[in-house]
Amino acid sequence: MLDKAKIKQLIQDVKKKPELASLDDNFVKDHLLKILNKETRTANLLFKNFTSKSRFYHKIIKLVRADLRRVYGLFREKKIDTYLFSELLKKPRDKNLLNNILKTHSSTKERLPIYESLYKQIFAITGKPNTILDLGCGINPLTIPFMKLQNVKYYAYDVSQDEINQINNYLKVINNKGKATVMDITKLENLPPADVAFLFKMTDMLDKNKGHKGTEEVLKHIPAKFVIVSFATLTMSGKPMRAPRRRWMEWLCDRLHYNYQIIEFPNELFYVIEK
Ligand SMILES: C[S@@+](CC[C@H](N)C(=O)[O-])C[C@H]1O[C@@H](n2cnc3c(N)ncnc32)[C@H](O)[C@@H]1O
Repeated sequence: MLDKAKIKQLIQDVKKKPELASLDDNFVKDHLLKILNKETRTANLLFKNFTSKSRFYHKIIKLVRADLRRVYGLFREKKIDTYLFSELLKKPRDKNLLNNILKTHSSTKERLPIYESLYKQIFAITGKPNTILDLGCGINPLTIPFMKLQNVKYYAYDVSQDEINQINNYLKVINNKGKATVMDITKLENLPPADVAFLFKMTDMLDKNKGHKGTEEVLKHIPAKFVIVSFATLTMSGKPMRAPRRRWMEWLCDRLHYNYQIIEFPNELFYVIEK
């Protein structure tokens, strides 16, 4: 039933929405297969008489797009402005340019007032790292200037080819070390050993429908001495959570015999975990 050409056609149609266009095909394929497995009745009816005109076709496309928006599109208010980005490549530490670009992604926008203090507090615990991994990085690698590190090797992973290309261009001008790669971090592929790894605002995505096994597997897999896992402390409506600490994270660390310290800001909580 899962004819390659038909799957390919579905992937290409899903990606016709501009905000999903640069997503990695394999990442889209995984989400498509997940939806086809879940919606067996619709999938059977679609593949019985496969045409892009059928309402079953449209239903599948709609469901896959909704799923991708939840894990990918939701955090991006718009694409990185190409003019601003080309200026940034000429002046990679320019605060104004950085701020304007970092504002286009909700997580980095929210952290603008805290970045310098955040990194200072993290590195006070971990020591100054030579190598950093950033898993599900979004555009966080553009905050390297706030880290005040000399010659850090930065390895960043996410699922949009365009953004990863931009981050690679940025890494080249910042110090020409490290690399950005398109990678689905749930696949637990090989990662370079590092001193510190960032897993900022990623656990909801890792744990969907799986208790906290997804986070546990990724946490165990990361070849870094310290992993920094962060969580929002505001509810969807923007009010502070009554109990922002994630007890499950603390129990998980206890069970795996990892030490942790907590760094708290009004909008985000950071667990600095020592493996
Ligand atoms: C909430 S944003 C966090 C971005 C960044 N960590 C930060 O806090 O600034 C979630 C990010 O995870 C990425 N993402 C979602 N699923 C992923 C996967 N399976 N593998 C790698 N990245 C993923 C999204 O594209 C998005 O950039």
